[in-house]
Amino acid sequence: MSSDGPTIESLAVEDRRFPPPPELAATAIARPELYEEAAADAEAFWLRRATELLDWVTPPAAACDRSRAPFFTWFADGTLNASANCLDRHLAERGDRVAYHWEGEPGDRQTITYRDLHERVCRLAAGLRELGVRRGDRVAIYLGMVPEIVVAMLACARLGAPHTVVFGGFSPESLRDRILDCGCTALITADGGWRAGKEVPLKRNADAALAECPDVRSVVVVRRTGSEIGWVDGRDVWYHELVEGRDADLAPEPVGAEHPLYILYTSGSTGKPKGILHTTGGYLTGVAATHRWVFDAGDDDVYWCAADAGWVTGHSYIVYGPLANGVTSVLYEGAPGTPDRDRWWEICARYGVTILYCAPTAIRTFMKWGTEYPARHDLSSLRLLGSVGEPINPEAWMWYRTHIGGGRCPVMDTWWQTETGHILISPLPGISTLKPGSASRPLPGIAADVVDAAGESVPLGQGGFLVIREPWPGMLRTLYGDDERYVETYWSQHPGMYLAGDGARRDADGDFWLLGRIDDVMNVSGHRLSTIEVESALVDHPAVAEAAVVGRADETTGQAIAAFVTLKGDVTGDEALIQELRGHVATKIGAIARPKSIVLTDDLPKTRSGKIMRRLLRDISENRQLGDVTTLANEDVVSEIAGLASAARASGDEDKAV
Ligand code: WTA
Repeated sequence: MSSDGPTIESLAVEDRRFPPPPELAATAIARPELYEEAAADAEAFWLRRATELLDWVTPPAAACDRSRAPFFTWFADGTLNASANCLDRHLAERGDRVAYHWEGEPGDRQTITYRDLHERVCRLAAGLRELGVRRGDRVAIYLGMVPEIVVAMLACARLGAPHTVVFGGFSPESLRDRILDCGCTALITADGGWRAGKEVPLKRNADAALAECPDVRSVVVVRRTGSEIGWVDGRDVWYHELVEGRDADLAPEPVGAEHPLYILYTSGSTGKPKGILHTTGGYLTGVAATHRWVFDAGDDDVYWCAADAGWVTGHSYIVYGPLANGVTSVLYEGAPGTPDRDRWWEICARYGVTILYCAPTAIRTFMKWGTEYPARHDLSSLRLLGSVGEPINPEAWMWYRTHIGGGRCPVMDTWWQTETGHILISPLPGISTLKPGSASRPLPGIAADVVDAAGESVPLGQGGFLVIREPWPGMLRTLYGDDERYVETYWSQHPGMYLAGDGARRDADGDFWLLGRIDDVMNVSGHRLSTIEVESALVDHPAVAEAAVVGRADETTGQAIAAFVTLKGDVTGDEALIQELRGHVATKIGAIARPKSIVLTDDLPKTRSGKIMRRLLRDISENRQLGDVTTLANEDVVSEIAGLASAARASGDEDKAV
């Protein structure tokens, strides 16, 4: 946490306004009365949503239990099963509805109905049970965007076995750390995955990770690329062999609402990733309700959330939210520029996508590529757009609305986090007047506020810490295995309030504008990375003595990783070493963490107490006027670094953004 807290950014005055289209205002699922109902009694409001939107084995009688705050529980006396809510209950009336139009990067396609999905989930759940997976056992999932990733998550949920999905772009070491931290006994992976025309060697990475994970007894391998892979007899089993002949109607295991549904790791401000724990009833209520309200998805919609299922956006808005609501989705395996830069728009036109949800970094990439690509396709089926993961600058917002949304589609800028489970701040399509760059208001039943260091609400127009003052159903319950860190990270700065770690301000109308992180977390292409994680990876290299990492503003990726490195005495640095260090970080953490620029310097700017001045490095990286540096122990290093940094920026290579 930086001690100076969030500052008020001088945002240029944004006075464009977009009221909801009249047809949408008349027909949208979310009505203005929702706000009133929630304001009258938020807990009763959420309890009604829980019973209205979900099927319970035992319906809950009570909403939130605050007796062990901040370890809140929701609907704790209810029992249900998440996979039954996503599948079984839809079968009678809409079993033949398409759950996913899936498209592989090489061009292969599958149409998967709710009935098909139910059958696949049952068979895999039966297979996993045969392998010894029981209620409460943790199962790791390390897959690309193939249908099996959804099947695997739901099969675990069916058995009451919490899953932990590890993004397919993570390295063997990252996978190992996550498996060990949550004590997984089984892993579901694939031989490989397709991404930008190249194969991601999932099984090879998994084998490397598992060399140090003795508790993983079973590895289920999906055949995707057909490549040669290593095989461990007695441990590895082909997915297609495991599911063959299994029960296509395996009964779901009823669990308590507070039974863990999944653990998902995210970066915090220290090196060790945090295992965010989500449970079943509150989480499902939250994702189902917000998915309905924000995306207004109904029977005639084709909805596409273009995130990766390995991130929380995929968990909540590719898998659990849309399936709980029985909606038809699109699922795409690969990169947006493969084989050409119009791949997304081709997909939108092919399936008649009506709702598209993606990240600003993707939008900025498309901006850079040019309007000719979306212009090649008929995008007239689109009626609603969404954005998530980072602040969307007004320019990108306008481009999205104009060139993808044909000037008619409202843009929902949704603010939330892995921790929050579901969207907390967002416009509603039939209600909100939109302002490009503003995430609008807290959703009904969400008590967001902006406070100062003393925890007092700040006046409109002033910046401060974004906090949530009341618990909400989909909130994280703890950090897996580390209750203390949970309390310390989120509940200690302002007792009684959840600290999001973002700065925010409200404008004169009370609309929220997000100002970015207030801690040492970077946001690169919508992916959270801690500066310390990247620093540790750099220092891990034998040539490196010390490293400091900052996120600097980047036109396409939001932030880019800028690293400053001092080498050990006997090492001479050159361009080859810089490339080697960049590669080293990618190997240690994953390609998303590869620094965009590395500056080799004799010294790092430090305070007299030896603290690295990150803010100064950020200023240098972003080419800003440097303020007072007289508190530095080593003043003269600053001008040296500034010169080197500007050279590094100029030569910084163009990494792919999405
Ligand atoms: C940022 C992604 C501005 C924020 C769902 C948050 C945003 C972090 C927005 C969570 C938005 C997410 N406007 N910033 N609409 N949405 N963020 O856990 O800094 O991967 O704290 O969850 O992304 O990232 P996470």
